[in-house]
Amino acid sequence: MATHKIAVLPGDGIGQEVIPEALRILGVVAKGSGTTFEFEQGLVGGAAIDATGEPLPGDTLRLCESSHAILFGAVGGPRWDHVPQERRPERGLLRLRKDFDLYANLRPAKCFPLLVDASPLKRSVVEGTDLMVIRELTGGLYFGEPRGTEKMADGSARAVNTMAYTSREIDRVARVAFDVARQRRRRLTSVDKANVLAVSQLWREVVTEVARDYPDVQLDHMLVDNCAMALVARPTQFDTIVTENTFGDILSDEAAILAGSMGMLPSASLGGKTALYEPVHGTAPDIAGQGIANPIAAILSAAMLLRYSLNMGGDAEKVEAAVLRVLEKGYRTADIRQEGTTLAGTVQMGELIAREVGAMY
Ligand code: IPM
Ligand code: MG
Repeated sequence: MATHKIAVLPGDGIGQEVIPEALRILGVVAKGSGTTFEFEQGLVGGAAIDATGEPLPGDTLRLCESSHAILFGAVGGPRWDHVPQERRPERGLLRLRKDFDLYANLRPAKCFPLLVDASPLKRSVVEGTDLMVIRELTGGLYFGEPRGTEKMADGSARAVNTMAYTSREIDRVARVAFDVARQRRRRLTSVDKANVLAVSQLWREVVTEVARDYPDVQLDHMLVDNCAMALVARPTQFDTIVTENTFGDILSDEAAILAGSMGMLPSASLGGKTALYEPVHGTAPDIAGQGIANPIAAILSAAMLLRYSLNMGGDAEKVEAAVLRVLEKGYRTADIRQEGTTLAGTVQMGELIAREVGAMY
């Protein structure tokens, strides 16, 4: 029987509430499929700062290094806002991405037909949306040097971040994007700001070059400001999108609106030998501790873990189908509540989905 070791890093806020529900689902999958998961918990983010003074303690790093995959909750919160930049909870996540070379971040955004009215956008706009944002995750403004703040001679201050990409970094994420597009509707939109930025000109050149190896995928280029508009005006025109780190951060939050709620969106960060899976939503301090957070993004992230790290695509499909079935039965967490549906808390939603997954084996 195969044993897979999974590093579990719930982090802060609702990360602590939704990750246990994802583990509940993986427990049911283990039983049904005859797989053994070994879950080991580690500290990250604010929780780790409180316990050790560091957002990513050495123990956690070693745990991740010795695991097949990382299941991550969320980090940050107002409690740690005063902490200096380099030690903020978010640093723990950024270091994990960099140390494990997780350069390709897959963020699917799909409008579930049942939730079409949960989006603040018109039904006629969002209906049929099914897109995937591939965000470069280890380059650009997030990591470029020089960075920092300096005092000027006249007493004023100056701060700088650097958006830098090598052709190699662009090439490898472009290849992931073309591969993903190939598994989808074979259309890839590369998003940049090539009318202004040198980095974007290189981006466009390299992506165009890579496209020669993928003649079956239709590539087009779009400027990021135009893409921001098109995403909410004509989202169904998109299939796969590839873009640099900061643009991808912003566009993927925008795309979340298309799915009705951020609480529905999973993600996978791939590249190195150990991948990381996390819900796109953050720690949601406003609702943390109330037991009302939507665990579906975390549960769908666990499904991505099954698919991409453990080659258990069939089991991933069962989890995804179970989520749909529970929605069909009319259960909703507060963020996706509609008239005529039954309100469920975090744990109840997890239990309902677990029961459906169990019934599929
Ligand atoms: C995300 C988040 C992170 C990011 C934060 C928490 C550092 O917004 O995963 O999109 O900016 O990448
Ligand atoms: Mg973000």
